[in-house]
Amino acid sequence: MSLQAQLESLKKETLEKISATDDLAQLNQIRVETLGKKGPITEVLRGMKDLSPEERPIVGGFANEIRDLLTAEIENRKVSLEAVALNNALAKETLDVTLPGTKVYHGTRHVLTQIMEEIEDIFIGMGYQVVEGFEVESDHYNFERMNLPKDHPARDMQDTFYISDEILIRTHTSPVQARTMEKHDFSKGALRMISPGKVFRRDTDDATHSHQFHQIEGLVIDKNITMGDLKGTLEVMMKKMFGEERNIRLRPSYFPFTEPSVEVDVSCFKCGGEGCNVCKHTGWIEILGAGMVHPNVLEMSGIDPEVYTGFAFGLGPDRVAMLRYGVNDIRNFYQNDLRFLSQFKGE
Ligand code: PHE
Repeated sequence: MSLQAQLESLKKETLEKISATDDLAQLNQIRVETLGKKGPITEVLRGMKDLSPEERPIVGGFANEIRDLLTAEIENRKVSLEAVALNNALAKETLDVTLPGTKVYHGTRHVLTQIMEEIEDIFIGMGYQVVEGFEVESDHYNFERMNLPKDHPARDMQDTFYISDEILIRTHTSPVQARTMEKHDFSKGALRMISPGKVFRRDTDDATHSHQFHQIEGLVIDKNITMGDLKGTLEVMMKKMFGEERNIRLRPSYFPFTEPSVEVDVSCFKCGGEGCNVCKHTGWIEILGAGMVHPNVLEMSGIDPEVYTGFAFGLGPDRVAMLRYGVNDIRNFYQNDLRFLSQFKGE
């Protein structure tokens, strides 16, 4: 058989094989066997040296033509086989769009953070600045400047953890007020501030006491500030926090840093004043301490008590959260049990 005839029959045979196969691996096998280095076409081209110079270009051209043709046919077949394989895979893989998706767990801010930010927002709306201070404080700012000298008996109510004789962890956020008062420039206007944050006391932990809790203290100092301003401010705050129908009442009390001092009650948000378990059947809930800033406190901060007056109050966000959500043990806030904390989703 002439070389041409051999090539011709190789072409025919290979084209049949190509169209017969529907397997990609087998197709590759055909390619290697036909067009590879040890394949028949290479063999023919190698045998060209034995041909006459006239025959050589004719046979060579024919061999190249067949090689190109087969290469193209194999490639075409490959593309269509791949398309079939993809379609089969797509047909086999089913996706049930009605199945529930994978849940993404959304954390929340701590319930106390939520309450504090809510209260901060109320006061920011009334033109107060929010000032945060140090949790580790000096005896001077925490006590002395609040009119609680070293031997003052009222220090007993706020015993704390001492780092040294003069350094302690703060028992209230009042030292932040002292630090702000002494820096305030009254020629630029009134001082209106709240100081939120963690405070610490040497309390025995029980359902209503924790050695760590939170406070938001407020302070306003200007000329002509009166008890009426205090009452009006607290009333607005309580209505915003517990509902427009709430009332407040003031009862005389004592704090070393305010004179006069008051205990503030809010009418019960659960029963509206009828009496229930939340208000211990009194219709009123004790919510905060407040008063007019003691002249000694003003004076120690370099403010003339003959010219300026002010009011101050101290509120416990832990207590607000307990009342609002019916939490009966303050320790829940500090035990980081997600079963408890994740109930408070916020907005
Ligand atoms: N600093 C007080 C406390 O921790 C709270 C308070 C502030 C009371 C201002 C009255 C006025 O007990």
